[in-house]
Amino acid sequence: QTVDATATLNLEQPGAVIAPEIYGQFMEQLVTGIDGGVWVGPESDIPNTRGFRNDVVGALKALDVPVVRWPGGCYADIYHWRDGIGPRDQRPVTLNRWWGGDEVTNGFGTHEFFDFAELIGARTYLSVNMGSGTVAEASDWVEYISSPTHSTLAQARRANGRDEPWRIDYVGLGNEPWGCGGRMRAAYYGDLMRQFVGFVAPYGQKAQMVAAGPNAVDYDWMRTLMANPADFDALSLHYYTLPTGDWAAKGPALGFDEGQWAATFVQTYKIEEMIVRHDAIMDQTDPDARVALAVDEWGTWYDPTPGSQAGHLQQQNSLRDALLAAVNFNIFHRHADRVRMANVAQMVNVLQAVILTDGPRMVLTPTYHAFEMYRPFQGATVLPLAIRAPEYVEGDARLAMLDGTAARGLDGRVHVALVNLDPRREVTVTVDITGPRAQAVSGRILTADVMDAHNNFDAPDTVRPVAFHGAAVSGQGLVVRMPAKSLVVLAIDPA
Ligand code: AHR
Repeated sequence: QTVDATATLNLEQPGAVIAPEIYGQFMEQLVTGIDGGVWVGPESDIPNTRGFRNDVVGALKALDVPVVRWPGGCYADIYHWRDGIGPRDQRPVTLNRWWGGDEVTNGFGTHEFFDFAELIGARTYLSVNMGSGTVAEASDWVEYISSPTHSTLAQARRANGRDEPWRIDYVGLGNEPWGCGGRMRAAYYGDLMRQFVGFVAPYGQKAQMVAAGPNAVDYDWMRTLMANPADFDALSLHYYTLPTGDWAAKGPALGFDEGQWAATFVQTYKIEEMIVRHDAIMDQTDPDARVALAVDEWGTWYDPTPGSQAGHLQQQNSLRDALLAAVNFNIFHRHADRVRMANVAQMVNVLQAVILTDGPRMVLTPTYHAFEMYRPFQGATVLPLAIRAPEYVEGDARLAMLDGTAARGLDGRVHVALVNLDPRREVTVTVDITGPRAQAVSGRILTADVMDAHNNFDAPDTVRPVAFHGAAVSGQGLVVRMPAKSLVVLAIDPA
């Protein structure tokens, strides 16, 4: 069945610039999230550059990853940086009390993180330990990393192989202090955070200070911190999409029915209302949006892959995840004036991973392809796109079947992303363009036969983008014919 929708694209009213950092990544010490997934060590048989696997580095470079957050997550608040420097065979074995209780050999530490970020060309987002660490420890870490002097800590960095200071672009002030980061109340965290801010500024550099913001809908937390916003540049927001909304039984990553498909999108759209309400609170003391909202953990969280250890947060990734990523990107675009960073949880092998590995093998997930298709939106300027589309109704779920955003890219072209959430109906979208007529349109599509189509090591290309031939210039606009459950990203050459 085909239904009709219309859209108006206005080329003459540019909006906010989309911060490239909205396409950020998050890596945590969570078993193969780093060890084996990114870091194999220079002695490994797996082809690597200074210990970083070449296949993963190549795939990440192709995404133009703007920023990587490390070392956590909950792990940040149990991480003691001195465990991760010096000769690797002499580093202590520690435990990850939050995720699986596993032994951590600390082979991937400070030098490895900054080396990795340089290798993939990403900015650095370092979360300091406010949960079980001290101000002195965090202050020393920042000095070790950033000081150009000959202080004992800077010299220790040199003795460990790095002469030049590294650049710290963002400093995260604890992680989830309302939960695993110390079970603090907002006022207490606010005071402690202000104390840390005074001691963790990098030397000779200006880093953005990211305070730990609310858990999803905790508007009181936001009000308390925003009562005095002068000390930080951004506040984080964490929200995970669980199909059921129930942490005890989240729903499977594969083999779900249409009710779960629709419910997952209903759950993910909740973040848009949160952003709107948090933004309104921030406006009261920061009407010019100096303080950014950094959605530094977002993504799907399903029941773990059967047979895997629950604390390792391993799950497959399907077409549903790719479309959900696209919906989240569109939400971030719509609020680009305030949302200026987002970090998907997580980069490799954990939760809504963009890459999965198994020994020497690697596969790109459907979510990876969504990131790759949206690359032209990094640094682009939002253009208004108003969509009128039929509803998609499934059980209790009622959603607009079509989501989309548009922006003028740094390449001068107009990029339009459209998501058809309906898994059964195709849609013909008539787009009216205000402004210069389109000369040409081209694009790519991501779709599959079934809702839980996914890539695995034996069939790595089941879900991958292909050229899209369903869009054409028509009069003062376009006509786009999209299949069910699909993501289309178009590039329009203006006249
Ligand atoms: O991403 C997994 C975990 O989710 C992080 O460690 C924590 O910050 C959040 O609760």
